[in-house]
Amino acid sequence: MKILVTGAAGFIGSKVMSMLLRRGDDVIGVDNFNDYYDVRLKHGRVEAFGLGDRIRKMDIADKAAVDALFEAEKFDKVINLAAQAGVRYSITNPYSYLESNLVGFLNILEACRNHGVRYLVFASSSSVYGLNAKVPYSEDDKVDNPVSLYAATKKSNELMAHAYAKLYGFAVTGLRYFTVYGPWGRPDMSPMLFAGAISRGEAIKVFNNGDMIRDFTFIDDIAEGTIRVLDHQPKAEDCPNGVPYKVYNIGCSNPVRLMDFISEIETAYGKEANKTFLPMQPGDVYQTNADTSHLEREVGYKPHWNLHEGISEFMKWYKSDLNPLK
Ligand SMILES: NC(=O)c1ccc[n+]([C@@H]2O[C@H](COP(=O)([O-])OP(=O)(O)OC[C@H]3O[C@@H](n4cnc5c(N)ncnc54)[C@H](O)[C@@H]3O)[C@@H](O)[C@H]2O)c1
Repeated sequence: MKILVTGAAGFIGSKVMSMLLRRGDDVIGVDNFNDYYDVRLKHGRVEAFGLGDRIRKMDIADKAAVDALFEAEKFDKVINLAAQAGVRYSITNPYSYLESNLVGFLNILEACRNHGVRYLVFASSSSVYGLNAKVPYSEDDKVDNPVSLYAATKKSNELMAHAYAKLYGFAVTGLRYFTVYGPWGRPDMSPMLFAGAISRGEAIKVFNNGDMIRDFTFIDDIAEGTIRVLDHQPKAEDCPNGVPYKVYNIGCSNPVRLMDFISEIETAYGKEANKTFLPMQPGDVYQTNADTSHLEREVGYKPHWNLHEGISEFMKWYKSDLNPLK
């Protein structure tokens, strides 16, 4: 069986690739190595996880290149993680979201359709829950109130994927990831921002005056859950309206207050942070909190790393020579 992972030099993609390769799967990764954040992290992951000869530089928004790759490789399954991520960046750079998240995603759907792919797993996001007030967030809730273009593209991906699963009969699962953290994390996300500011003696920016709640999920849990879902292809007869399409939350189900998260980082770093308290940022939501009972019941998987263990692991990496941004 041959598997494609897109966004393979990214935070989640590199971990997924390395776990698939470790269990002996035949995997190819693609990534455009864009400079949304420091590319030393992307190259560092590729090197640290030994992915060098399995990854090709390619943009999923390049239809001809995507088509040629699928034609040559005859993938059975695809994991699409390539996307323009980040909520705040979508306020200033809206068009990069259209390119990667909509045009790129359509190219992946078309290639799956035209080249006999049996199963597509793709990254959605907890941000689709937008202004929803009811917690924990369940896949049964309506998600019609996005508060960022990023969230709107992820919700669009879910709709596009459902239509393709219905029209062309290949199976699709969307995964709504909840605030992922851990070694080799993204420098635009709070754990890396906080650790970086503490190490440089700068103040950390604490939005909404610290009154936020996040369901932080450790990277190993996310990668393992993604692979379990890859191994668990939905059958049309088990899905609503006979369409082989599923969407799952994948989060820790143990949301923490932002200030407790900061304390955990301070303790692990061994230094207190200077803090600048700021109002809520446009596009941000007050809380994220995942109900993961569907994933647990149907796929038999629940994340298990707790925050204390995860932050210790993250900080061990952060302080090590592996971290190019330390
Ligand atoms: N990390 C999180 O907390 C989180 C939460 C919710 C959803 N997600 C989603 O999970 C996926 C992976 O996120 P991540 O945190 O690993 O982000 P990341 O930015 O580290 O990884 C994405 C990778 O995709 C590549 N990429 C972007 N556009 C591309 C394109 N057009 N063609 C080829 N490669 C391209 C980037 O170079 C990057 O290496 C994304 O779809 C993201 O939206 C992540």
